[in-house]
Amino acid sequence: MSRPHRVTASAPAKVNLYLGVGPRRGDGFHPLATLYHAIGLRDVVTASRPRSGGRRGTEPVVSVDGDQSLLLTDVPRGPENIAARAASLLAQQYGVDEPVLLHIDKRIPVAGGLAGGSADAAATLTACDALWGLGATQADLLDLAAELGSDVPFALLGGTAAGAVRGELVTSVPVPGDYWWVVARSREGMSTPAVYAAFDHTPQGAAAVEPTIPPAMTAALAEHDVERLGAVLNNDLQPAALGLRPDLAAVLRHGLGAGAVGALVSGSGPSCLFLGRDQEHAAHVAGRLAEDVSADVLVTSGPVPGARIESKD
Ligand code: C5P
Repeated sequence: MSRPHRVTASAPAKVNLYLGVGPRRGDGFHPLATLYHAIGLRDVVTASRPRSGGRRGTEPVVSVDGDQSLLLTDVPRGPENIAARAASLLAQQYGVDEPVLLHIDKRIPVAGGLAGGSADAAATLTACDALWGLGATQADLLDLAAELGSDVPFALLGGTAAGAVRGELVTSVPVPGDYWWVVARSREGMSTPAVYAAFDHTPQGAAAVEPTIPPAMTAALAEHDVERLGAVLNNDLQPAALGLRPDLAAVLRHGLGAGAVGALVSGSGPSCLFLGRDQEHAAHVAGRLAEDVSADVLVTSGPVPGARIESKD
């Protein structure tokens, strides 16, 4: 069978239903106990071979397009782009010496706390594995993903999953039913390292202990109890994120005032999340947020599958 010329793969944004953060480790990372949840907002990466010749062993060539309301110009085009790093790592691991073009179609907010870059890396690993006919197992790809970033393994896995160590050790947690979310996007991005550094200086950061996922959260998910889930949503980075972006507190307050059953900053922010009772209720909350605080909102559901092939030709 001839190998494809072009492979398109997608991967989802993540939210953290629970994000417990422990004290800073010697290497600068923080131990996490998190429950990841993939939502229906996907970046799409197309990996292709240049049509004619091209030099062998060159760096991946990255192009970026997508939702024009996102901070697309902030996405690096060079070898530091996480999708380029993913392709290079996979090539190095399997001894591939071919040039590759990577086109990223961005739908996930850039630097938004929704792991958009991690989704690009996961989609790239999936697309390049198929383009180069490597037949890597999911375990192989998860190992490479962990080298690329803490959230990349989850972007491969999708669904709902527990994340441990610095987030990269993922275990699927099958949950019944769907949840409906409102995502309020922000016009400015936030730096994840800056939020973690701010966390170290919050009273909560100073007193942080080894985190665990509370049984009440696991029980709420097992029973698909939306109201209970809303009450136990937690993000230990939220005080630090709000310290850097005090304006987000009003967005959270308005969402709760509009009837959301739970509200929190997503990961390191600045996107804010609101849990609706169902699709209609989420749409109502989104409408109120758009009207009351001119929030840039979208309604989506989770869990959704992890990285997957969309097309090959
Ligand atoms: O792993 P990733 O590249 O996504 O991490 C980005 C940054 O976020 C790290 O350099 C670190 O500052 C911070 N981080 C952390 N603890 C984690 C994950 C990320 O301090 N568990």
